[in-house]
Amino acid sequence: MLTTELPARTLSLPPLKLGPLTIDTPVVLAPMAGITNTAFRRLCREFGGGLYVAEMVTSRALVERNAESMRIISHDEDEKVRSVQLYGVEPVTVGAAVRMLVEENRADHIDLNFGCPVPKVTRRGGGSALPWKTELFTSIVRAAVTEASRGNIPLTIKMRKGIDEDHLTYVEAGKIARDLGVAAVALHGRTAAQFYSGQADWNAIATLREALPDVPVLGNGDIWSAEDAMDMVEQTGVDGVVIGRGCQGRPWLFGDLMAAFEGSSRRYRPSLGTVANAVYRHAELLVETFGEEQKALRDIRKHMAWYFKGYVVGSELRPKLAMVPDLATLRELLDELDSESPYPGADAEGPRGRAGSPKRPALPENWLASRELDAQQKSMISAAELDVSGG
Ligand SMILES: Cc1cc2nc3c(=O)[nH]c(=O)nc-3n(C[C@H](O)[C@H](O)[C@H](O)COP(=O)(O)O)c2cc1C
Repeated sequence: MLTTELPARTLSLPPLKLGPLTIDTPVVLAPMAGITNTAFRRLCREFGGGLYVAEMVTSRALVERNAESMRIISHDEDEKVRSVQLYGVEPVTVGAAVRMLVEENRADHIDLNFGCPVPKVTRRGGGSALPWKTELFTSIVRAAVTEASRGNIPLTIKMRKGIDEDHLTYVEAGKIARDLGVAAVALHGRTAAQFYSGQADWNAIATLREALPDVPVLGNGDIWSAEDAMDMVEQTGVDGVVIGRGCQGRPWLFGDLMAAFEGSSRRYRPSLGTVANAVYRHAELLVETFGEEQKALRDIRKHMAWYFKGYVVGSELRPKLAMVPDLATLRELLDELDSESPYPGADAEGPRGRAGSPKRPALPENWLASRELDAQQKSMISAAELDVSGG
């Protein structure tokens, strides 16, 4: 793959320590439902070191051993650190899910999702809505840390700044989690109300880093290149970075990140032919992941626009790629591309994936009225957790 050398800029950051684990390159692939399955994690892993978190799985569905949940938490044999992210709103169920992972030796790292802004999640008080309820948040993290510690498995949390600018929770939640013994705290510098709009607030990440001097803090939001990652580390002092959308269609970003954190200025600049090969390989790996060609090809379609962003593909070929039915057709379509077409530069870089505009988050009734659960909210929470796995 064609690479270029940028003017040297080095940044030394020690390996990331998560309890007993040492992550040599302090870079984390953000959990992304529908994206960070075994296929995508393998593609990323082949380019660089780091920690690769699976798609979130609902605690209840996991405890019930629902087939899709078991698929989500499965790892390839060569994944040295098997990382799982749990979503849950009810302490007993979250504790049971962690216990299952630990007792059955199914994970080496467990993260809890307190950042999801999707309405079907926040409407039940989950994800980014949850840290607002201090006691509930504390009980969930305590249950998870207690169970994880029995197997010496590091437990981390990932959260947003809060519900909106008037209801910020991140510093308080970070301190609670630290006091309960989490191995690290990751902050996506947006509120729930922002969804994916605007800019991630890196100042908030710096504030959290300062507020929690005694636990690793990871920064997340709007890292699109290795240079952005270095900027975030310099501006906030974080111990590591978490990257989501920036690697959609660009698994080689992990190679750039590893180079950057090793002080090398080498960066991947793939030609169109190299991108086409990556797409085909991604599709093949998805067939392995899902065990079903049709499902895999339906899944690869959403990656097309990300892979080919900025490249000369042609207006006839793009829609065909976005509708590709099987591997054979994918091969034929990719062969029509000019494989020699060079890396397009800035057009292939920058923001990609989810964006959108701010809106009022969907919350349970009277959620913001108090930091504690009222009777109605308590019964809502203890009722069955909605399975939102893979969504
Ligand atoms: C398609 C998609 C799915 C996501 N799924 C999850 C998830 O399962 N768990 C989670 O904690 N965050 C999830 N996120 C949020 C990301 O982990 C990350 O926090 C967010 O995208 C901001 O980082 P970025 O600017 O690097 O993309 C998802 C984001 C996207 C775009």
